[in-house]
Amino acid sequence: MCGIVGYIGKRNATPIIIEGIKRLEYRGYDSAGIAIINKDKKISVFKEKGKIIELERALPKPSETAGNIGIAHTRWATHGEPNQANAHPHTSSNNRITLVHNGIIENYKNLKSKLEKSGYTFSSETDSEIFANLIDFFLDKTNSLTEAVRESMKLVEGTYGIAVLSNDSPDQIVAFRKGSPLILGIGDDEFFVCSDVSAIIIHTKKVIYLQDNEIVTIKNNTFEITNVHNENIKAKVSIVDWDVSSIDKGDFPHFMLKEIFEQPTTVKNAFRGRIVEKLSTVRLGGLNMTGEELRKVQKIQIIACGTSWHAALIGKNIIEHLARIPVEVEYASEYRYKNPIIPIETLVFVISQSGETADSLAALREAQARGARVLGITNTIGSTIARESDGGVYIHAGTEIGVASTKAFTSQVTILSLLAVLLGRMKNISPVYGMEFIKELHRIPDKIQRILDKNDEIEKIAETIKDSHNALYLGRGVNFPVALEGALKLKEISYLHAEGYPAAEMKHGPIALIDENMPVISIALKDVIYEKIISNLQEVKARNGRLITIATEGDNVVKSFSENVIYIPETVPILQPLLSVIPMQLLAYHVANLRGLDVDQPRNLAKSVTVE
Ligand code: G6P
Repeated sequence: MCGIVGYIGKRNATPIIIEGIKRLEYRGYDSAGIAIINKDKKISVFKEKGKIIELERALPKPSETAGNIGIAHTRWATHGEPNQANAHPHTSSNNRITLVHNGIIENYKNLKSKLEKSGYTFSSETDSEIFANLIDFFLDKTNSLTEAVRESMKLVEGTYGIAVLSNDSPDQIVAFRKGSPLILGIGDDEFFVCSDVSAIIIHTKKVIYLQDNEIVTIKNNTFEITNVHNENIKAKVSIVDWDVSSIDKGDFPHFMLKEIFEQPTTVKNAFRGRIVEKLSTVRLGGLNMTGEELRKVQKIQIIACGTSWHAALIGKNIIEHLARIPVEVEYASEYRYKNPIIPIETLVFVISQSGETADSLAALREAQARGARVLGITNTIGSTIARESDGGVYIHAGTEIGVASTKAFTSQVTILSLLAVLLGRMKNISPVYGMEFIKELHRIPDKIQRILDKNDEIEKIAETIKDSHNALYLGRGVNFPVALEGALKLKEISYLHAEGYPAAEMKHGPIALIDENMPVISIALKDVIYEKIISNLQEVKARNGRLITIATEGDNVVKSFSENVIYIPETVPILQPLLSVIPMQLLAYHVANLRGLDVDQPRNLAKSVTVE
């Protein structure tokens, strides 16, 4: 979703902040803009609808955009369509204040009418412009940009990460946040602000993650952090521990393909150092829970959105199987408003790749408000969900840039399997069973690699379905959520309609759609339900459906009635999703790519959904 980058230092800000927002393109956006304090100490604003390249084309010659202080923004439309007027930066009506904003102002109508009564006017449909006028209003009363910001924060309800410039004090950037990420980057005699560290990582790895209600004022080659109550904050400086290469495509044509191919490594990274071989169990220290507390868990609720929700469904299967603890999986957006029942001895998990998804965060807060212990499973160190949860586990998948989540999914499933072993060994399974499971987990990365080696074969299969209008994905048991995930991948990046279904449910509706034009992508692996799913696939075949079947190596039966078969290595049934999802990811990738679509930045989607 929206991205912010700001720079203050000795270098020319424009190329730095333009390059910075390009690093955030992956998050999804529909317009972009910059504000620069130029050599005459005046703010100049440039903004355009569409991609950053359009903005660059519209910029005047470099001498007119030169300056050492600037802010930039990519906007994903919420209030008002994506056009030039609604693009950020926004400027107060008497031209003093210019800002960029991520988030949503909830009481904007009320504030707008008050500001209008004081003579302010508005030129966009955005809620963000209210903040510019509000800070301007308080600037008259306080004579300090930081104080004007502080007073404004007291009146605004909603979420925001903001960087602001003022024509009255053209030597500074003030940035502040509530509910939307904002980071201060500390370089040598220069500072950055951003909403996502990947925007500035090539310049510095020294950062401060601002907390809610904090304000950073950067001027005179130094910075000061205070909060909305005007208290001084001594913030912790963190060192970002990932490598610049993780934000480059390397030799791959797209981030998504690179991330799919990283999975042998990322799955290994998820379990590395967490397995206690001697005791046939795992250690997840970040949960902050004693063995005694874990033994008391009677129920688990897992809350998530999108692909993370699919990982949660698989986790439910694995945990119920190994630990015999009932697990409920909820959409965060539903959970937060449904007056959830959380029985005592319930452990709540929130899964979020970004750690910033607004609905997941609200659900976390709701569960905590009811006294539940809430643990986070996230990929993003220092993210809001990581900070606000009572403990948790990082999946350590490295930055995921492709909007369609791939490696984060398999890492989330890996973490949930570790959790299942941990709880299972306390409640239900023997050391021998625990060790067999752990040994198989160790074999998974090599088995993923063997599937990746079939990339060319899968591309050829993609060619056969790329012009379809619909696709049906079928799976059963632990592979049903994989069918959902396969359908989601196809929808997200190729814009084809696709549905995931439990194979046996097909006869209660979707079977009516099957004809010779309908590709049916099915997971039919060797396990206790194998014979049943074969019968379901025969029903598809009898209606001329075009079967693409993901089958266990050596299975010759499926060949006889499938148009194409993708063979994957055998594993224990509850770990099958870590393998069966790989052909789904590759198939979706190739279909989208063959259709000539923007795989990494699909239309309308955002990587991190920070609005409700
Ligand atoms: C967006 C992304 C999806 C992601 C979902 C949940 O829709 O495009 O890829 O699965 O948000 O995100 P989270 O960061 O909470 O896992």
